[in-house]
Amino acid sequence: MSVWAVLAAAGSGERLGADRPKAFVRLGDQPLLGESLARLDESDWIDAIVVAAPPGWEEPAILLAEELGCSKVSSCVTGGATRAESVKLALAEVPAEAAVVLVHDAARPILDDAVIERVVTALNEGWDGIVPAVAVPDTVKRVDGDRVVETIDREELRLAQTPQAFPSEVLRRAFEGDVGGASDCASLVEARGGRVKVVPGDLRLMKITDARDLERASALL
Ligand code: C5P
Repeated sequence: MSVWAVLAAAGSGERLGADRPKAFVRLGDQPLLGESLARLDESDWIDAIVVAAPPGWEEPAILLAEELGCSKVSSCVTGGATRAESVKLALAEVPAEAAVVLVHDAARPILDDAVIERVVTALNEGWDGIVPAVAVPDTVKRVDGDRVVETIDREELRLAQTPQAFPSEVLRRAFEGDVGGASDCASLVEARGGRVKVVPGDLRLMKITDARDLERASALL
């Protein structure tokens, strides 16, 4: 069974306020992208990797992979206007023989191999997709402007992370047509009636959005 990883790294990361795309902002002693790329490359669960890089940053992404000795990077595509479009463009580079595709956000650098193992192995149970997720610690309110409409039972809620794993054919079908602004891959699979399972995520898999997140992540390296 071959497992391909798509690494979505084509975001602009405007909220970081840096002079470069988020994937190339420094985390520790290398660009942010390097952390998840190296961890995917080292994983025995992953056979090959396709990177979606920001327009104009394809070459630096390939050079970074070479510097890190990442031997599994098969290609690097130019990302699209949204995350979903970037994943769709990368998915086109995944060969038909791939059995499983795992999609990961470069914005979540602290990727533990145990999470990769959990999402890949759970697919053997026959699901259409596997999502690592964590509980919601705070009480959640639905609001209309600044008026509280209701309090939602947080026991029923999860925060979805990546990497998310799918049988490749299921993911390809989910990405047919307009994928627009879907914020994760599983939502596209769910929209087609796919059965998606959550498995335990990892609090260290937090998404880097602003400068404070970068500080927290570097403390976890
Ligand atoms: O913007 P946000 O942090 O939600 O993006 C999540 C992931 O999707 C990031 O790793 C980012 O690089 C990626 N992305 C992408 N192409 C875009 C927008 C975001 O690959 N056009």
